[in-house]
Amino acid sequence: MSWGPDRRVYIAGCGGMLGEAVYDHFSTRAVVKATDIDLNAPWLEYADVRDYRQLWGSIEAFKPDLIINLAALTDLEYCERNADHAWLTNALGAENLALIAEKMQAIYVYVSTAGIFDGAQDVYNDFDRPNPLSIYAKSKYHGEQFAQAYLRRFFVFRAGWMMGGGPGKDKKFVNKIYRQIAGGARELSVVDDKLGTPTYTKSFAEAMYKVIGTELWGVYNQVCGGTCSRYDVAVELVRLLDLQDAVRVTKVGSDHFAGEYFAPRPRSEMLVNMKLDSRRINFMPHWKAALKEYATIFKKDLAR
Ligand SMILES: NC(=O)c1ccc[n+]([C@@H]2O[C@H](COP(=O)([O-])OP(=O)(O)OC[C@H]3O[C@@H](n4cnc5c(N)ncnc54)[C@H](OP(=O)(O)O)[C@@H]3O)[C@@H](O)[C@H]2O)c1
Repeated sequence: MSWGPDRRVYIAGCGGMLGEAVYDHFSTRAVVKATDIDLNAPWLEYADVRDYRQLWGSIEAFKPDLIINLAALTDLEYCERNADHAWLTNALGAENLALIAEKMQAIYVYVSTAGIFDGAQDVYNDFDRPNPLSIYAKSKYHGEQFAQAYLRRFFVFRAGWMMGGGPGKDKKFVNKIYRQIAGGARELSVVDDKLGTPTYTKSFAEAMYKVIGTELWGVYNQVCGGTCSRYDVAVELVRLLDLQDAVRVTKVGSDHFAGEYFAPRPRSEMLVNMKLDSRRINFMPHWKAALKEYATIFKKDLAR
């Protein structure tokens, strides 16, 4: 779709870590309506993706050209314990939005996850076969399928280990490590047997905007360049915070955290952006460059 300031973009689930970056990028380039069930910013309005009627009411009058679905429950352990809630949000919510996009003839964008693969391979390209293991991954994979089943003009972007939003909004690994450091921890135990591809929300939002403009509809892996283990990310973060002499990072196996992180996770969720590369529309930076930029927020926070 060609972009212009009169384009209308509806974003569901925009109150989260990716939502903030997507809102920041899109709201200066289009007319945006951003919704969530968690109204943590003044620019958010309430809409629950599980409730078709209410969602329709929120979207119909706005008449979007594009609907972006970011709404999800992303805590894997919560999803295992609350499977119905996960299915209703991640799968039914995605079906509701895909149906509405189809009815309104809007372009539909769905953000999926590298977690839909089972980890039997080291690296996955866009064409590899999904085999999700956890409730979270299974429900997200259904979300992908609704986009493909109901729409011709759609994008599915598969993200990897999300990082973004800073100390206030980042619910994932980088902030979990940062919180330990900010809390005074000088010994960190981090798994080195889980492999993946970090995905910086700011780069992801910018890249998404550009790729949507190409109208090359379809399913895309969209992660930062390079691959790593959780341990590698933690070591790099500590280095970027200039704490390598003060904080020791120790490798452990996933069994170390088996009680806390009991949801099934693939050994590897490393993705390559094969389609984006081949079409010369891969706008994602290397994960180390992205983390370098992202770490400046944490550095400032530490200095406060
Ligand atoms: N985080 C990752 O590592 C990761 C990796 C790959 C892909 N993704 C995908 O990226 C997208 C954005 O996720 P994120 O990382 O920004 O996670 P996030 O920070 O948890 O954001 C998701 C937002 O959706 C909201 N939400 C939950 N249930 C909803 C409902 N019924 N209706 C409307 N909104 C609802 C959440 O509110 P609450 O906070 O109240 O639940 C939250 O504000 C999701 O599709 C996710 O599956 C995430």
